[in-house]
Amino acid sequence: MRNEQVPDRNIAMELVRTTEAAALAAARWMGRGDKNASDGAAVNAMRMMLDTVDMDGVIVIGEGEKDQAPMLFNGERVGSGRGPQVDVAVDPIDGTRLLALGRPNALSVVAVAPRGTMYNPHDIFYMEKIAVGPAAKGMIDLSAPVLWNIQQVARAKELAVEEVTVVILDRDRNTEIVDEVRAAGARIRFITDGDVAGAVMTGLAGTGVDMLLGIGGSPEGVVAASALKCLEGDFQARLWARNDEDRRYAADHGLDLTEVLTIEHLVNSDDVFFAASGITTGDLLKGVEYVAGGATSESLVMRSRSGTIRRIQTEHHWRKLQQISGDRYTG
Ligand code: FBP
Repeated sequence: MRNEQVPDRNIAMELVRTTEAAALAAARWMGRGDKNASDGAAVNAMRMMLDTVDMDGVIVIGEGEKDQAPMLFNGERVGSGRGPQVDVAVDPIDGTRLLALGRPNALSVVAVAPRGTMYNPHDIFYMEKIAVGPAAKGMIDLSAPVLWNIQQVARAKELAVEEVTVVILDRDRNTEIVDEVRAAGARIRFITDGDVAGAVMTGLAGTGVDMLLGIGGSPEGVVAASALKCLEGDFQARLWARNDEDRRYAADHGLDLTEVLTIEHLVNSDDVFFAASGITTGDLLKGVEYVAGGATSESLVMRSRSGTIRRIQTEHHWRKLQQISGDRYTG
């Protein structure tokens, strides 16, 4: 029997306007060494656009608690208030340092899933992560040795272990993992920042990246897990305490530092929406480029239920944008 159901709405098609707006606002700060100014510009632009999206959203992964950040704080309501009840994860700039220093791979990102389905890491700011693409889905285990996980990915992708490329954030806390990857004989692509882009690249063909390992930001972990849901890849994480204070905080808040969080723990839904726009040109996306009277941007737009992955190249025209939005849209 034919399925006559009418396809429902893909919120990601609207969410991409929020990451585009944030990228356009942030890109003006490329290489200017001012992380705060670029973050403020991106947050304001994203916030303005989020409120045009027909959804009843709550920020689960945001810019901190209300007192510290006036915009896009955890628990803030976003969207028009009409439409589905959803959790929202935002990272207006993943790679503020990359942007401030004019380096590749800074992105603006947003993910949405049904209300109550996104994991909240509270104030444990770091997690150990493993990310792989669709070929190795179901074949990884963060509690197993690094060598075993690399061998699993090699088998899944029909590669020799020496041909597997692992993305790792270049941090002292990742030294042990780096040593284990080197001992296994696999290749490493070090990144100075931006492990959302690193994780997303594991799920896309042609990026030259097979897996991501190492300790990075917890909010970025939930965002990356959302992306890998859409890409049918896999992701696991384990909260990581920096010190005794973190350990005490985890104990007080019932957060288990030994538990392996699967992709289902992190985003417990098959109806996940994801959008990302490039701010500075990198391996995943082209950044914002300025042309007379406007700018161009590139975005990735995905939805887990349909499995559709779109790359959207957009031309933005300042004069027309300002006509329809007044001073609110400055590009
Ligand atoms: P921000 O742009 O929010 O600073 O995040 C950049 C980033 O590199 C993330 O991609 C990564 O998860 C996290 O920082 C790592 O944290 P830290 O820089 O403290 O090691």
